Amino acid sequence: MLGVNDNKLYSNLLIFKFKNFSLEYPEEIREILAYSENSGDLKELEILNTLGKCDYKKVFILGLGTTEEFNSVKLMRALGSAVKSIKNSIEDLDILDNLREDFGYNIGQVLELSLYKFKGIKQKEINVKLQKVNVISSCKDEISKGFIVGNSVNFVRNLVSLPSNYVTPKYIAQQAENIAKEGNLDIKIIDKYMLEQMGMNAILYVGKGSLHSPRLVALQYFGDSSSKEITAIIGKGVTFDSGGITLKPGKGMENMVSDMAGAASVLGTMKALSKLRPKKNIIALIPTVENMPSGNAYKPGDVITTYCGKTVQVISTDAEGRLILCDAIAYAKELGATNIIDIATLTGSCSQFLGGINAGLLSNSDELANSIINTGKEVGENFWRLPNNPEYLEQLKTDSADLKNSGTSCGAIVAGLFLESFAEDVNFAHLDIAGCAGSASGSDLYDAGATGMPTRTLIELLMK
Ligand code: BES
Ligand code: ZN
Ligand code: ZN
Repeated sequence: MLGVNDNKLYSNLLIFKFKNFSLEYPEEIREILAYSENSGDLKELEILNTLGKCDYKKVFILGLGTTEEFNSVKLMRALGSAVKSIKNSIEDLDILDNLREDFGYNIGQVLELSLYKFKGIKQKEINVKLQKVNVISSCKDEISKGFIVGNSVNFVRNLVSLPSNYVTPKYIAQQAENIAKEGNLDIKIIDKYMLEQMGMNAILYVGKGSLHSPRLVALQYFGDSSSKEITAIIGKGVTFDSGGITLKPGKGMENMVSDMAGAASVLGTMKALSKLRPKKNIIALIPTVENMPSGNAYKPGDVITTYCGKTVQVISTDAEGRLILCDAIAYAKELGATNIIDIATLTGSCSQFLGGINAGLLSNSDELANSIINTGKEVGENFWRLPNNPEYLEQLKTDSADLKNSGTSCGAIVAGLFLESFAEDVNFAHLDIAGCAGSASGSDLYDAGATGMPTRTLIELLMK
């Protein structure tokens, strides 16, 4: 239970301490602080047993570093690491927020993120011990907004972690329906029959081998009728990527249940934005399929006439993400999008050379690329821009069709350029999150597992 109140509720307290600046504390805390040996270094955590000297049993003192170097990312790292280290040893906690008002937004977010635990599917639920957290603060609005964002990111993490016998294309569509209903968004679910009528063949082909039929989910939020600007966010929703006929090796294939992390991130972004209601026009598109081998599956060599009319020769059925995305990009253009951003666990190549530290970013617009990079810095998510020289596209030339779906080298770049060629003259950015969607080690903010990246960047970008 997470909340914000004006006064003490629980038996343990966490307070902040700067290295070079004295924050104001209530009288009873000041006495305790006299016993503190915390130097105020960033993330330094000291536990004081109050021995009855005040109303709290334990006081946790958390260093925030120096005021000059302090920012919202540092605050989230410090508070996240503190919560993570104490969340299995105490049951309740008050946090005294005596920082600047806008930091409440970050406090709210990081509490949600650091307390989250993926419960899996187990007979007995295992919860973190720390179930009651109260922020003592006068910045209720900022903190509540932070809770909305953190909660939406946790929704993404859950969806990414759940297996593909739960998260099917139908399940993704149902989640979108829930978000639309809860947040009053327009929704259209284009089913297999309608996809056929419309000629969304790339989505249909990738989904052909599966018993779970594909869908294209469209959510709309129009918050600024005076503007013609529309941003489309498109998330890759492959609920399981076996590779199809170009079957992946068995080792590690279970991780391909998270090949819908882009879709989850788009859903989480819309979940948050439907509550935060920015003055922006946003379309969210989620092509969702299961990529399976079968007697009915699409095959290497097949030529697909995609939604915009361009034809693609399939070289690898494992390069399926770009196929479902190219139909969605064409559809976004038709709907009048002026900015298109896709989010996809698209290439092993990207995760190999950027790891989990940076997501790959490929864009035809310096302005859009820089705004994503800068927004990412503000929230602590990193994006590294990839080159997009047209020469890389030479790899995708073929006699059989307008282009092939896979080349020979520079996988992440070629995949991004494949998508960019469908966006044509519309501002376009592609985010390859193959290495960032999950983390084996976790970070200051969250435990190992799904990260929810780049949901916070998307939310912030669309709130501006
Ligand atoms: N879903 C994978 C990419 C991926 C790999 C995500 C590892 C997360 C971790 C994607 O559909 C894929 O299989 N890409 C191929 C493309 C190749 C066949 C051109 C890849 O990167 O190997
Ligand atoms: Zn694949
Ligand atoms: Zn994939």
